[in-house]
Amino acid sequence: MPPLKIVHYPEPILLTVGKPVDSAAFANGLGHTVEDMFETMYAAGGVGLAAPQVGLSERFFVMDVPLENGEPNKLVFVNPEIVRVEGEQVGDEGCLSFPGLYQSVRREMRVIVRAQDVAGNDFELDLEGMAARCVLHETDHCDGIVFLDRMTVLKREMAKRKIRQLKKTGKWE
Ligand code: NI
Repeated sequence: MPPLKIVHYPEPILLTVGKPVDSAAFANGLGHTVEDMFETMYAAGGVGLAAPQVGLSERFFVMDVPLENGEPNKLVFVNPEIVRVEGEQVGDEGCLSFPGLYQSVRREMRVIVRAQDVAGNDFELDLEGMAARCVLHETDHCDGIVFLDRMTVLKREMAKRKIRQLKKTGKWE
């Protein structure tokens, strides 16, 4: 069993803006929670997992979008801020809080993100493609926004219909 339980839409915590992580929280240590989040994310087959998805209304997330050579690339983003975006990509997206739902979402192609690592050190990354998509999706989670909110009206209606069907299967509580 993974160490943490992933909450599913429409749990209110998914639609709530997370609290910034402050110096006291860093002092208490995020390391253990973050490792539990990685383990839970890998067990569920995801590439990103944000704190609100495991019941913590705070602004941080973990992500592992493998590098081009297939190597894992474990990253932790605390208090993420999107500094700049560029370009556009349209592609299917999923979310561990929406089990079984995949829908086309338009996102920026490139993102410059500023955040802190697990020890509270500032860093900035310039990412493209799948990694950029994931950072945008997870930063949204930190701000109480889900990918449903990023769909066109038509796609959102289709998604809601699919959610109702999926809930009948009992896989989605
Ligand atoms: Ni998600």
